[in-house]
Amino acid sequence: MNSIVVKDLRHSYNGTVAVDGISFNVAQGEIFGLLGPNGAGKTTTTEILVGLKKRKAGLVEVLGFDPSDQDEELKSRIGVQLQIPSLFQRLTVKELLNLFATFYPDPLNIEEVIEKVGLQDKTKTISMKLSGGQLQRLSVALALVSNGDLIFLDEPTTGLDPQARRGLWDVIENLKKEGKTVFLTTHYMDEAEKLCDRVAIIDYGKVIALSSPNDLIKSNFTEQALEFDVEADQKAFLHEKLPSVSKIEFNEDKATVYTQDVTKTVAELLAITDNGFRLKSFTVRSASLEDVFLKLTGRRIR
Ligand SMILES: Nc1ncnc2c1ncn2[C@@H]1O[C@H](COP(=O)(O)OP(=O)(O)OP(=O)(O)O)[C@@H](O)[C@H]1O
Ligand SMILES: [Mg+2]
Repeated sequence: MNSIVVKDLRHSYNGTVAVDGISFNVAQGEIFGLLGPNGAGKTTTTEILVGLKKRKAGLVEVLGFDPSDQDEELKSRIGVQLQIPSLFQRLTVKELLNLFATFYPDPLNIEEVIEKVGLQDKTKTISMKLSGGQLQRLSVALALVSNGDLIFLDEPTTGLDPQARRGLWDVIENLKKEGKTVFLTTHYMDEAEKLCDRVAIIDYGKVIALSSPNDLIKSNFTEQALEFDVEADQKAFLHEKLPSVSKIEFNEDKATVYTQDVTKTVAELLAITDNGFRLKSFTVRSASLEDVFLKLTGRRIR
C-alpha cells in the first residue's frame, strides 16, 4: 500500500518553475528520501504534500487524501518538521510541545519526545533563545509528538553536531521499526544511504533517479577505485604495468585507478613492487551515494 502517490506534480512561483512534473510513490512503512541540490524543489514538494502549498497541477494523494482539501483527519495523522519553522518565539520548549500535542488525537508523551531529541536541559527555555541546532531539534520534536502514521522531515539534521545527528538517525530508524512511514529530505548522502529504503534525486524540478541507494550505486558505478601514493617518475610506467585498470587519475602525489577486478589489479601492483615501486597509503574505495549524486547532478554549486 502507498502512503504517498505523486503523479506529474507541477508547481511554479510567478512563472519560475520549481517542480516540473515529478512522479513517485512512497510505500507504507518505508523511509523515502528526496535528494537534490539547493533549489531543486524539495521543500516546495514537501510543502505541497503536507497541505501548506496548493499545487499548480498533477495528482497528489497522502494517506488517501488530497492534501489541498485541507482535511482535518489528514492533518491529525501526519507529523511535520519544516526547514524554516515559524514558531511562537516566546513559548518555552515544553509549552510548544504541549501546544502541538493538543493538535493530535494520540500524541506521544512530551517527556519522552524531549529525551529523544536531547533537549532535557532546555525545557524551560523560550524558543527564540535556543541555539540553531537546538531549534532544529525542537522542530523535529514537534513532528514526533504527533505520533502520526507518516512523518515529514525537511532536512532534519542540518546544523546538528555529529552526536546529535547520530541520535536523530536512531530516532528515525525507530520510527520505521514502529511501522511509520518517513518522508525525508537531506543533503547528507551518508545519511540517505544509511536510512533510506529508496531515494529520489531531483534536479531542476525533475526526478533524475529513483531507486534504493544500493541499486543506484551499482547501476552508476561498476568499478572500484584503488588509491595509493605515487612518485612523479613512476606515473608513465603505471599505465603500461596495470592492464586491468580502465582509467588512471593523478592528483599531485596520489594515483587513483579504476578497475572491475580488484584482485587482479592488486596482483599487478604487487608484481611491480620489485621494480623500485613501493605501495604506500593504499586504500580501496567503493562508490557511495555521494558519488552517484555528484555524477548525476554535477559538481557545480548552484
Ligand atoms: N516563496 C517562493 N517564491 C518564489 N520562488 C520560490 C519560493 N520558494 C521557493 N522558490 C523557488 O523555487 C525553487 C525550488 O525551491 P525549494 O525551496 O523547493 O528548493 P529546495 O530543493 O528545498 O532547496 P534547498 O536544498 O536549498 O532547501 C527555487 O528556485 C526557489 O528559488
Ligand atoms: Mg529546501
